Amino acid sequence: MTLIDGKAVSAQIKKEIAAEVADMVARGEKRPHLAAILVGHDGGSETYVAAKVKACEECGFTSTLIRYESDVTEEELLNKVNELNADPDVDGFIVQLPLPKHISEQKVIETIDYRKDVDGFHPINVGRMSIGLPCYVSATPSGILELLKRYHIETQGKKCVVLGRSNIVGKPMAALMMQKAYPGDATVTVCHSRSRNLVEECREADIIIAALGQPNFVKADMVKEGAVVIDVGTTRVPDATRKSGFKLTGDVKFDEVAPKCSFITPVPGGVGPMTIVSLMKNTLLAGKKEIYK
Ligand code: GUN
Repeated sequence: MTLIDGKAVSAQIKKEIAAEVADMVARGEKRPHLAAILVGHDGGSETYVAAKVKACEECGFTSTLIRYESDVTEEELLNKVNELNADPDVDGFIVQLPLPKHISEQKVIETIDYRKDVDGFHPINVGRMSIGLPCYVSATPSGILELLKRYHIETQGKKCVVLGRSNIVGKPMAALMMQKAYPGDATVTVCHSRSRNLVEECREADIIIAALGQPNFVKADMVKEGAVVIDVGTTRVPDATRKSGFKLTGDVKFDEVAPKCSFITPVPGGVGPMTIVSLMKNTLLAGKKEIYK
């Protein structure tokens, strides 16, 4: 069994990005600039956004964090999105999700200029991704592809089961694993909360990508000997023995599943750091105006 070290791979990629930014700056070009909007004080969102700001520093990017209390109106937020759309110094920006219920996430996403949508959530980027055109690809699926690539994991003709059908992970992941490319060329099945044969599908899978948000959902008896298991879950499960009061828990029961796998990602230290570094890669592309002029 090989443990996929997302932390090490992401550190390596951040170094590669920082070197490229240093070259850009030496040529007199501007540093890529990522802005992030954070609404409210959700613990997970606070942690993710802080990690994104820190990663920007490590990559040599400029970053701007814009905070609102959870009672911000939809109009105020949309005004800020439009302001960032028009700001020539900002290459790309994100609005951290989830948003409070009184704000339409879809409306916010669709207001972001797709040319600055480094999260890859805008319908134009989602559509372009699904037909294989250059675009910003959602960070988590993109980070998973990078791990498959860096560990030389075979995907062509393999049976890949994606657990979960979210717009951010499950759907784009399935589209990317079936694309005519490497990594890709897999036979993809998407299972979700209404699937009747989820366990049987998993048992036949060469690659399982678990993105349900249900701690310890994937058990040893659901995994074929030699399978590749990618765990996207990051649920905060209460744990009184820890200073933080919680334990970040994946969708896979790691201890019993790992011995059966050829490759597996741990939680934390697997997919999580790759998600952040994929956002950095998108920001670099935005800074270089490589995808959209
Ligand atoms: N919430 C959970 N994951 C993400 C992400 O990748 N981007 C944003 N903006 N919000 C998230």
